[in-house]
Amino acid sequence: MKQPHNLKVNIPQKSAYSYDILIGENLINIAGELVKKYSNSQKFLIVTNETVAELYKNSLNIENSAWLILKDGEEYKNFETLKHIIDECVKNRLERNDCIIAFGGGVIGDMAGFAAASYMRGIDFIQIPTTLLAQVDSSVGGKVAINHEHGKNLIGAFYQPKAVLIDTNVLKTLDLRQLKTGLAEVLKYAFIEKTCGFEKEFNLYDFLEVNRQKIFELDSDVISKLIYMCCALKACVVNKDETEKGLRAILNLGHTFAHAIENLTNYTLYTHGEAVAAGLKMAFKLSRLKNLIDKNYYDKAVGLIDNYDLVPKMTCFDKEKFYSEMFLDKKAQGGKVRFVLPKGACEVEITSEVAKEQVFEVL
Ligand code: NAD
Ligand code: GLY
Repeated sequence: MKQPHNLKVNIPQKSAYSYDILIGENLINIAGELVKKYSNSQKFLIVTNETVAELYKNSLNIENSAWLILKDGEEYKNFETLKHIIDECVKNRLERNDCIIAFGGGVIGDMAGFAAASYMRGIDFIQIPTTLLAQVDSSVGGKVAINHEHGKNLIGAFYQPKAVLIDTNVLKTLDLRQLKTGLAEVLKYAFIEKTCGFEKEFNLYDFLEVNRQKIFELDSDVISKLIYMCCALKACVVNKDETEKGLRAILNLGHTFAHAIENLTNYTLYTHGEAVAAGLKMAFKLSRLKNLIDKNYYDKAVGLIDNYDLVPKMTCFDKEKFYSEMFLDKKAQGGKVRFVLPKGACEVEITSEVAKEQVFEVL
């Protein structure tokens, strides 16, 4: 087995709270040993869903663990399921120093993490993300939540895991649509790389241009390098701004538009990544309109999104409805929508200075 990549999230405001992100092949096969290293727990509750359990339950062997296998789907990311997870913690008599393991995509990670944040005012949790989206984004950085009927991720917390164990092998069972969903977030990192302020320049943008084929083939070296770069960029942003007072908002490039697309279609027509990919294109269009970027970069960036074929055919949206939906986004502040806009190659800025007419033109 190759040595896994190892990264650290290191949050100075939390007495230098830090945790490892391990990225490697077949990590779930050795997760039993790894989790003992990261938690002193006597008991583990492994939270997953039916799809992931069917594929991987036999590969994940953790001593002193109980399994909770939930129904699969964003529609179950709610109070009822949260209660179900907490009930299971009670039933299994989990104590203060015990641990929840989130084994699945972003839905499982967000819900299990929030249950861990709430049960006994917070017990350990470890993320074992199994979708590309969860591996490059949702498992890192401590945003945990459930949905409310009036808004997605409306009830939640910032609660960091004890470790993130990323097994690149499990991506092989993802279908193409879910792979592309994760790739939308990957491209996002390429477009914000310089603003993240990471000590080293990866040039993720060029990496994506050069390695498209290998990425779709899930070439193991390429894919683990890709995940490493995304996690390093995310960790760098989270270390500087854990609770999204400022910089962390750059991780929402394309998301203001995506939020409106997802809400107007009741989260049924498009995956999160498809909406984000469409939102990325809209953000680039708006930037170009505001003259923040030149035509050359605009054409290149939109060309990259198209080359990865991330945006499905979108339905026609009513512009007024779309515009008002953007104001309901959690990221709106003081009645103003905050846009993350490209301002140069792989650089973005956060601004509220966008006229309604400009948004209409983009739509
Ligand atoms: P998901 O968790 O619904 O997973 C997508 C599908 O893939 C599901 O059907 C799942 O069962 C299946 N699946 C998971 N692993 C698999 C595997 N290895 N092989 C085959 N199928 C597999 O969706 P997602 O895209 O992973 O996550 C979306 C969620 O993440 C949303 O709820 C979103 O709000 C949240 N999110 C959170 C953050 C954060 O920072 N916390 C960031 C982005 C998104
Ligand atoms: N996915 C956005 C964030 O973690 O802030």
